[in-house]
Amino acid sequence: MMTDIATLQTDLMGAINSADTLDSLEAVRIAALGKQGSVSALLKTMGSMSPEERQTQGPIINGLRESITSALAGKKADLETADLNHRLASERVDMTLPAPEAPRGTIHPVSQVMDELAEIFADMGFAVAEGPEIEDDWHNFTALNIPETHPARAMHDTFYFPDDMARDGQKMVLRTHTSPVQIRTMTSQEPPIRIIAPGRVYRSDSDATHTPMFHQIEGLVIDKGIHLGHLKWTLETFLKAYFEREDVALRLRPSYFPFTEPSVEVDVGYSVVNGKRVIGGAEGWMEVLGSGMVHRKVIEACGLDPDVWQGFAFGTGVDRLAMLKYGMDDLRAFFDGDNRWLQHYGFNALDVPTLSGGVGA
Ligand code: DAH
Repeated sequence: MMTDIATLQTDLMGAINSADTLDSLEAVRIAALGKQGSVSALLKTMGSMSPEERQTQGPIINGLRESITSALAGKKADLETADLNHRLASERVDMTLPAPEAPRGTIHPVSQVMDELAEIFADMGFAVAEGPEIEDDWHNFTALNIPETHPARAMHDTFYFPDDMARDGQKMVLRTHTSPVQIRTMTSQEPPIRIIAPGRVYRSDSDATHTPMFHQIEGLVIDKGIHLGHLKWTLETFLKAYFEREDVALRLRPSYFPFTEPSVEVDVGYSVVNGKRVIGGAEGWMEVLGSGMVHRKVIEACGLDPDVWQGFAFGTGVDRLAMLKYGMDDLRAFFDGDNRWLQHYGFNALDVPTLSGGVGA
Protein backbone atom coordinates (compact mmCIF):
# COMPACT_ATOMS: atom_id res chain seq x y z
CA MET A 1 0.00 0.00 0.00
CA MET A 2 2.76 2.43 0.98
CA THR A 3 4.71 1.71 -2.20
CA ASP A 4 1.52 2.00 -4.26
CA ILE A 5 0.97 5.48 -2.90
CA ALA A 6 4.60 6.46 -3.41
CA THR A 7 4.50 5.20 -6.99
CA LEU A 8 1.19 6.96 -7.63
CA GLN A 9 2.68 10.20 -6.28
CA THR A 10 5.79 9.88 -8.48
CA ASP A 11 3.65 9.14 -11.55
CA LEU A 12 1.28 12.02 -10.92
CA MET A 13 4.11 14.49 -10.24
CA GLY A 14 5.76 13.39 -13.49
CA ALA A 15 2.50 13.86 -15.38
CA ILE A 16 2.00 17.31 -13.85
CA ASN A 17 5.55 18.39 -14.70
CA SER A 18 5.34 17.24 -18.26
CA ALA A 19 1.92 18.79 -18.94
CA ASP A 20 2.68 21.56 -21.43
CA THR A 21 -0.78 23.03 -21.92
CA LEU A 22 -3.59 24.03 -19.58
CA ASP A 23 -5.78 21.39 -21.23
CA SER A 24 -3.35 18.53 -20.63
CA LEU A 25 -2.86 19.71 -17.04
CA GLU A 26 -6.63 19.69 -16.56
CA ALA A 27 -6.71 16.10 -17.85
CA VAL A 28 -4.12 15.14 -15.20
CA ARG A 29 -6.21 16.87 -12.52
CA ILE A 30 -9.35 14.94 -13.51
CA ALA A 31 -7.43 11.64 -13.64
CA ALA A 32 -6.20 12.26 -10.06
CA LEU A 33 -8.82 14.31 -8.23
CA GLY A 34 -11.92 13.90 -10.42
CA LYS A 35 -14.83 11.71 -9.36
CA GLN A 36 -13.22 8.64 -10.92
CA GLY A 37 -9.69 9.82 -10.19
CA SER A 38 -6.92 7.71 -8.69
CA VAL A 39 -6.45 9.94 -5.62
CA SER A 40 -10.22 10.18 -5.08
CA ALA A 41 -10.37 6.36 -5.17
CA LEU A 42 -7.73 6.18 -2.42
CA LEU A 43 -9.65 8.69 -0.32
CA LYS A 44 -12.74 6.53 -0.66
CA THR A 45 -10.87 3.47 0.74
CA MET A 46 -10.50 5.26 4.06
CA GLY A 47 -14.21 4.70 4.82
CA SER A 48 -13.73 0.95 5.07
CA MET A 49 -10.49 1.04 7.07
CA SER A 50 -10.14 -0.01 10.69
CA PRO A 51 -9.47 2.90 13.09
CA GLU A 52 -5.80 1.89 13.45
CA GLU A 53 -5.30 1.56 9.75
CA ARG A 54 -6.97 4.94 9.21
CA GLN A 55 -4.62 6.47 11.76
CA THR A 56 -1.54 5.51 9.76
CA GLN A 57 -2.96 5.60 6.20
CA GLY A 58 -5.15 8.72 6.61
CA PRO A 59 -2.30 11.26 6.88
CA ILE A 60 -0.45 9.59 3.99
CA ILE A 61 -3.44 9.67 1.65
CA ASN A 62 -4.38 13.21 2.66
CA GLY A 63 -0.75 14.25 2.25
CA LEU A 64 -0.83 12.82 -1.28
CA ARG A 65 -4.00 14.76 -2.07
CA GLU A 66 -2.48 17.99 -0.74
CA SER A 67 0.81 17.69 -2.57
CA ILE A 68 -0.94 16.84 -5.84
CA THR A 69 -3.39 19.75 -5.38
CA SER A 70 -0.61 22.24 -4.73
CA ALA A 71 1.57 20.86 -7.56
CA LEU A 72 -1.40 21.27 -9.92
CA ALA A 73 -1.96 24.86 -8.76
CA GLY A 74 1.73 25.73 -9.13
CA LYS A 75 1.93 24.25 -12.59
CA LYS A 76 -1.30 25.98 -13.62
CA ALA A 77 0.13 29.36 -12.55
CA ASP A 78 3.35 28.66 -14.49
CA LEU A 79 1.45 27.71 -17.64
CA GLU A 80 -0.79 30.79 -17.37
CA THR A 81 2.22 33.09 -16.99
CA ALA A 82 3.95 31.45 -19.94
CA ASP A 83 0.76 31.76 -21.98
CA LEU A 84 0.39 35.48 -21.10
CA ASN A 85 4.03 36.18 -21.95
CA HIS A 86 3.61 34.42 -25.24
CA ARG A 87 0.52 36.45 -26.07
CA LEU A 88 2.16 39.72 -25.03
CA ALA A 89 5.04 38.95 -27.34
CA SER A 90 2.95 37.77 -30.28
CA GLU A 91 -0.27 39.80 -30.15
CA ARG A 92 1.19 43.21 -30.88
CA VAL A 93 -1.15 45.80 -32.40
CA ASP A 94 0.51 47.74 -35.20
CA MET A 95 -0.63 51.31 -34.61
CA THR A 96 1.15 52.71 -37.63
CA LEU A 97 -0.59 53.44 -40.90
CA PRO A 98 0.99 53.13 -44.30
CA ALA A 99 2.11 56.59 -45.42
CA PRO A 100 0.12 58.13 -48.26
CA GLU A 101 2.10 58.48 -51.48
CA ALA A 102 2.02 62.27 -51.19
CA PRO A 103 1.41 64.17 -47.94
CA ARG A 104 -2.28 65.11 -47.81
CA GLY A 105 -2.35 67.84 -45.15
CA THR A 106 -1.22 71.37 -45.94
CA ILE A 107 0.05 74.29 -43.90
CA HIS A 108 -2.63 77.00 -43.76
CA PRO A 109 -1.54 80.26 -45.43
CA VAL A 110 -2.00 82.10 -42.10
CA SER A 111 0.42 79.72 -40.38
CA GLN A 112 2.79 79.95 -43.32
CA VAL A 113 2.79 83.75 -43.28
CA MET A 114 3.32 83.82 -39.50
CA ASP A 115 6.32 81.52 -39.98
CA GLU A 116 7.65 83.75 -42.74
CA LEU A 117 7.29 86.84 -40.53
CA ALA A 118 8.95 85.15 -37.55
CA GLU A 119 11.85 84.17 -39.82
CA ILE A 120 12.24 87.66 -41.27
CA PHE A 121 12.09 89.41 -37.89
CA ALA A 122 14.32 86.84 -36.16
CA ASP A 123 17.00 87.86 -38.65
CA MET A 124 16.62 91.46 -37.41
CA GLY A 125 16.93 90.38 -33.77
CA PHE A 126 13.23 90.24 -32.83
CA ALA A 127 11.86 87.59 -30.47
CA VAL A 128 8.29 86.27 -30.67
CA ALA A 129 6.03 87.30 -27.75
CA GLU A 130 2.53 86.16 -26.86
CA GLY A 131 -0.38 87.32 -24.77
CA PRO A 132 -3.83 85.99 -23.81
CA GLU A 133 -6.78 86.17 -26.22
CA ILE A 134 -9.09 86.80 -23.24
CA GLU A 135 -7.69 90.12 -22.13
CA ASP A 136 -8.63 92.68 -19.52
CA ASP A 137 -9.81 96.17 -20.29
CA TRP A 138 -6.65 97.78 -18.90
CA HIS A 139 -4.23 95.90 -21.20
CA ASN A 140 -6.50 96.07 -24.26
CA PHE A 141 -7.44 99.76 -23.92
CA THR A 142 -6.52 101.89 -20.91
CA ALA A 143 -2.76 101.24 -20.82
CA LEU A 144 -2.70 101.90 -24.57
CA ASN A 145 -3.99 105.41 -23.91
CA ILE A 146 -7.55 104.54 -24.88
CA PRO A 147 -9.52 105.74 -21.82
CA GLU A 148 -13.13 104.78 -21.04
CA THR A 149 -14.69 107.57 -23.06
CA HIS A 150 -12.40 107.30 -26.07
CA PRO A 151 -14.20 106.86 -29.43
CA ALA A 152 -11.64 104.21 -30.45
CA ARG A 153 -13.40 101.81 -28.07
CA ALA A 154 -16.56 102.03 -30.12
CA MET A 155 -14.58 101.64 -33.35
CA HIS A 156 -13.20 98.31 -32.18
CA ASP A 157 -16.60 96.53 -32.06
CA THR A 158 -15.46 94.78 -28.92
CA PHE A 159 -16.78 91.45 -27.66
CA TYR A 160 -17.19 92.08 -23.93
CA PHE A 161 -17.56 89.33 -21.32
CA PRO A 162 -20.45 89.65 -18.81
CA ASP A 163 -19.76 91.89 -15.80
CA ASP A 164 -19.71 88.95 -13.39
CA MET A 165 -16.63 87.61 -15.18
CA ALA A 166 -14.59 90.68 -14.28
CA ARG A 167 -11.14 89.96 -12.83
CA ASP A 168 -9.61 92.30 -10.22
CA GLY A 169 -12.33 94.81 -11.02
CA GLN A 170 -11.37 94.72 -14.73
CA LYS A 171 -13.96 93.97 -17.38
CA MET A 172 -12.75 91.15 -19.65
CA VAL A 173 -12.80 91.30 -23.45
CA LEU A 174 -11.73 89.19 -26.39
CA ARG A 175 -8.68 91.19 -27.40
CA THR A 176 -9.48 93.47 -30.31
CA HIS A 177 -5.86 93.78 -31.42
CA THR A 178 -2.40 92.41 -30.63
CA SER A 179 -1.32 95.78 -29.15
CA PRO A 180 -1.94 94.61 -25.52
CA VAL A 181 1.08 92.34 -25.99
CA GLN A 182 3.13 95.57 -26.10
CA ILE A 183 1.93 96.29 -22.56
CA ARG A 184 2.46 92.73 -21.36
CA THR A 185 6.00 92.75 -22.71
CA MET A 186 6.97 96.16 -21.31
CA THR A 187 5.61 95.27 -17.86
CA SER A 188 7.34 91.89 -17.73
CA GLN A 189 10.79 92.45 -19.19
CA GLU A 190 13.51 95.05 -19.04
CA PRO A 191 14.29 97.12 -22.13
CA PRO A 192 15.89 97.01 -24.63
CA ILE A 193 12.94 95.19 -26.22
CA ARG A 194 12.54 93.87 -29.75
CA ILE A 195 9.49 91.68 -30.23
CA ILE A 196 6.84 90.68 -32.69
CA ALA A 197 3.53 89.29 -31.45
CA PRO A 198 1.42 87.34 -33.95
CA GLY A 199 -1.97 86.01 -32.91
CA ARG A 200 -5.75 85.88 -33.08
CA VAL A 201 -7.89 88.96 -32.46
CA TYR A 202 -11.67 89.40 -32.35
CA ARG A 203 -14.17 92.01 -33.47
CA SER A 204 -17.92 91.87 -33.97
CA ASP A 205 -17.78 92.37 -37.72
CA SER A 206 -18.44 90.14 -40.75
CA ASP A 207 -18.39 90.64 -44.54
CA ALA A 208 -16.10 89.74 -47.49
CA THR A 209 -13.12 91.49 -45.92
CA HIS A 210 -13.96 91.10 -42.21
CA THR A 211 -14.38 87.99 -40.04
CA PRO A 212 -15.16 88.03 -36.29
CA MET A 213 -11.80 86.34 -35.68
CA PHE A 214 -8.75 87.34 -37.66
CA HIS A 215 -4.98 87.57 -37.22
CA GLN A 216 -2.67 90.44 -36.53
CA ILE A 217 1.00 90.84 -35.93
CA GLU A 218 2.37 93.49 -33.65
CA GLY A 219 5.92 94.81 -33.53
CA LEU A 220 7.56 96.69 -30.68
CA VAL A 221 11.03 98.14 -30.20
CA ILE A 222 11.97 99.94 -26.98
CA ASP A 223 15.50 101.25 -26.54
CA LYS A 224 17.42 104.49 -26.13
CA GLY A 225 17.46 107.05 -28.94
CA ILE A 226 14.98 105.29 -31.21
CA HIS A 227 13.46 107.51 -33.92
CA LEU A 228 11.22 107.38 -37.01
CA GLY A 229 14.21 106.52 -39.20
CA HIS A 230 14.59 103.19 -37.39
CA LEU A 231 10.89 102.52 -37.90
CA LYS A 232 11.05 103.26 -41.61
CA TRP A 233 14.14 101.11 -42.18
CA THR A 234 12.65 98.21 -40.25
CA LEU A 235 9.35 98.27 -42.17
CA GLU A 236 11.11 98.65 -45.52
CA THR A 237 13.44 95.74 -44.80
CA PHE A 238 10.54 93.61 -43.60
CA LEU A 239 8.24 94.36 -46.55
CA LYS A 240 10.98 93.72 -49.15
CA ALA A 241 11.85 90.39 -47.52
CA TYR A 242 8.19 89.43 -47.17
CA PHE A 243 7.11 90.26 -50.73
CA GLU A 244 10.46 88.91 -51.97
CA ARG A 245 11.16 91.86 -54.23
CA GLU A 246 13.53 94.79 -54.05
CA ASP A 247 11.24 97.31 -55.74
CA VAL A 248 8.69 97.58 -52.92
CA ALA A 249 7.92 101.29 -52.56
CA LEU A 250 6.71 102.64 -49.21
CA ARG A 251 4.68 105.74 -48.51
CA LEU A 252 4.33 106.99 -44.95
CA ARG A 253 1.24 109.10 -44.24
CA PRO A 254 0.54 110.99 -41.01
CA SER A 255 -2.27 109.33 -39.12
CA TYR A 256 -3.72 108.91 -35.67
CA PHE A 257 -3.56 106.06 -33.16
CA PRO A 258 -4.03 106.71 -29.43
CA PHE A 259 -0.94 104.69 -28.51
CA THR A 260 1.57 106.30 -30.91
CA GLU A 261 2.73 109.88 -31.39
CA PRO A 262 3.46 110.66 -34.12
CA SER A 263 1.44 107.99 -35.90
CA VAL A 264 1.98 106.88 -39.47
CA GLU A 265 0.06 104.72 -41.87
CA VAL A 266 2.19 102.81 -44.34
CA ASP A 267 1.15 102.22 -47.93
CA VAL A 268 2.94 100.01 -50.44
CA GLY A 269 3.01 100.71 -54.14
CA TYR A 270 1.44 98.31 -56.61
CA SER A 271 1.25 97.94 -60.35
CA VAL A 272 -1.53 96.36 -62.37
CA VAL A 273 -0.55 93.22 -64.29
CA ASN A 274 -3.28 91.46 -66.33
CA GLY A 275 -5.93 93.34 -64.42
CA LYS A 276 -4.54 92.23 -61.04
CA ARG A 277 -2.77 94.33 -58.47
CA VAL A 278 0.82 93.21 -57.93
CA ILE A 279 3.08 94.61 -55.18
CA GLY A 280 5.96 96.63 -56.67
CA GLY A 281 6.06 99.83 -58.69
CA ALA A 282 3.91 102.85 -57.85
CA GLU A 283 0.83 102.87 -60.10
CA GLY A 284 -1.31 102.94 -57.00
CA TRP A 285 -0.97 102.65 -53.24
CA MET A 286 -2.56 100.42 -50.69
CA GLU A 287 -2.45 100.64 -46.96
CA VAL A 288 -0.72 97.75 -45.21
CA LEU A 289 0.37 98.88 -41.75
CA GLY A 290 -0.37 101.13 -38.81
CA SER A 291 2.62 102.35 -36.85
CA GLY A 292 4.28 105.16 -34.98
CA MET A 293 6.50 106.17 -32.10
CA VAL A 294 5.23 104.66 -28.85
CA HIS A 295 3.28 107.33 -26.92
CA ARG A 296 4.92 108.65 -23.72
CA LYS A 297 1.78 107.80 -21.79
CA VAL A 298 2.02 104.14 -22.87
CA ILE A 299 5.66 103.93 -21.77
CA GLU A 300 4.70 105.57 -18.46
CA ALA A 301 1.72 103.21 -17.94
CA CYS A 302 4.20 100.33 -18.10
CA GLY A 303 6.34 101.87 -15.35
CA LEU A 304 9.17 103.03 -17.63
CA ASP A 305 10.62 106.56 -17.85
CA PRO A 306 9.75 108.01 -21.29
CA ASP A 307 12.68 110.44 -20.99
CA VAL A 308 15.01 107.43 -20.96
CA TRP A 309 13.22 104.91 -23.16
CA GLN A 310 11.67 105.48 -26.58
CA GLY A 311 10.47 103.16 -29.26
CA PHE A 312 8.28 102.41 -32.20
CA ALA A 313 5.40 100.01 -32.74
CA PHE A 314 3.52 98.68 -35.72
CA GLY A 315 0.58 96.44 -36.33
CA THR A 316 -0.97 94.79 -39.35
CA GLY A 317 -3.36 92.08 -40.43
CA VAL A 318 -1.73 88.72 -41.16
CA ASP A 319 -4.66 87.50 -43.24
CA ARG A 320 -4.47 90.58 -45.42
CA LEU A 321 -0.72 90.19 -45.86
CA ALA A 322 -1.37 86.60 -46.97
CA MET A 323 -4.05 87.73 -49.45
CA LEU A 324 -1.75 90.37 -50.95
CA LYS A 325 1.12 87.94 -51.40
CA TYR A 326 -0.71 84.78 -52.40
CA GLY A 327 -3.69 86.20 -54.30
CA MET A 328 -6.80 85.10 -52.40
CA ASP A 329 -9.66 87.57 -52.59
CA ASP A 330 -12.23 86.41 -50.02
CA LEU A 331 -11.18 86.46 -46.39
CA ARG A 332 -14.09 84.28 -45.26
CA ALA A 333 -12.68 81.29 -47.20
CA PHE A 334 -9.68 81.36 -44.83
CA PHE A 335 -11.83 79.97 -42.07
CA ASP A 336 -14.28 77.68 -43.91
CA GLY A 337 -12.00 74.63 -43.70
CA ASP A 338 -12.85 73.71 -47.32
CA ASN A 339 -10.41 71.00 -48.33
CA ARG A 340 -10.24 72.17 -51.96
CA TRP A 341 -9.22 75.67 -50.86
CA LEU A 342 -6.65 74.22 -48.46
CA GLN A 343 -5.20 71.99 -51.19
CA HIS A 344 -4.97 74.97 -53.53
CA TYR A 345 -3.63 77.66 -51.20
CA GLY A 346 -1.97 75.49 -48.51
CA PHE A 347 1.77 74.91 -48.24
CA ASN A 348 3.85 71.76 -48.08
CA ALA A 349 4.65 70.97 -44.46
CA LEU A 350 8.28 70.29 -45.36
CA ASP A 351 8.89 73.68 -47.04
CA VAL A 352 10.07 75.67 -44.04
CA PRO A 353 10.50 79.39 -44.77
CA THR A 354 14.16 80.48 -44.74
CA LEU A 355 15.75 83.72 -45.79
CA SER A 356 18.31 81.95 -47.96
CA GLY A 357 15.75 79.69 -49.66
CA GLY A 358 13.11 82.41 -50.07
CA VAL A 359 10.57 82.75 -47.27
CA GLY A 360 7.62 81.92 -49.50
CA ALA A 361 9.29 78.95 -51.23
N1 DAH B 1 -3.76 98.08 -33.00
C1 DAH B 1 -4.09 98.75 -34.24
C2 DAH B 1 -5.38 98.17 -34.81
O1 DAH B 1 -5.73 97.07 -34.48
C3 DAH B 1 -2.98 98.57 -35.25
C4 DAH B 1 -1.77 99.33 -34.86
C5 DAH B 1 -1.58 100.63 -35.29
C6 DAH B 1 -0.81 98.77 -34.07
C7 DAH B 1 -0.47 101.35 -34.95
C8 DAH B 1 0.32 99.47 -33.70
C9 DAH B 1 0.49 100.78 -34.17
O2 DAH B 1 1.30 98.96 -32.94
O3 DAH B 1 1.62 101.48 -33.83
O4 DAH B 1 -6.02 98.79 -35.58
